[in-house]
Amino acid sequence: MAENGGGRKKRERPNILITGTPGTGKTTTSTALAESTNLRHINVGDLVKEKNLHDGWDDEFDCYLINEDLVCDELEDLMEEGGNIVDHHGCDFFPERWFDHVVVLQTENSVLYDRLTKRGYTGKKLSNNIECEIFQVLLEEAKESYPEDIVVALKSDCIDDINRNVSTLTDWVRNWSSLP
Ligand SMILES: Nc1ncnc2c1ncn2[C@@H]1O[C@H](COP(=O)(O)OP(=O)(O)O)[C@@H](O)[C@H]1O
Ligand SMILES: [Mg+2]
Repeated sequence: MAENGGGRKKRERPNILITGTPGTGKTTTSTALAESTNLRHINVGDLVKEKNLHDGWDDEFDCYLINEDLVCDELEDLMEEGGNIVDHHGCDFFPERWFDHVVVLQTENSVLYDRLTKRGYTGKKLSNNIECEIFQVLLEEAKESYPEDIVVALKSDCIDDINRNVSTLTDWVRNWSSLP
């Protein structure tokens, strides 16, 4: 396998990370993108539950305590093979070399508030996530964890945004895969 300039291994198909605050549309976008590109959609939250890659339930934050080492071990072979869309609300614990493109979805606060309320979030869980979006925590995390030129922020307020984002990303995948 040849090394490219950034030291990342040249895969036949790219790996994309779709991140963002809960409710910004990661799973909806990843599902549609997987359909249009035939890449493999990996929902990290689901994987953690299915394969018990956690250290129990966190009562304070009302979610599983992810075991990051177990998640990385579980994904290593697939990521090396390429052709994955990884869907997760965090990104700082994945190896930098895994990803060719990092997408941070962003949603206007009032829209996100309604989505999370519909999902049953209340109290601290709701306000923590809204704050996370206001302070662009995931965008900062992505910029700190990956080369700036592979990180892109995309607006995800309405269905038109999803369609446009999926179409832009599908073009990006086709273009990447046809590079020599
Ligand atoms: N851009 C968007 N426009 C309209 N509805 C959206 C958009 N993104 C997400 N939604 C809706 O918001 C909810 C949460 O989306 P989801 O994809 O599960 O987010 P995430 O995986 O980031 O938590 C779903 O009901 C979804 O249909
Ligand atoms: Mg999701």
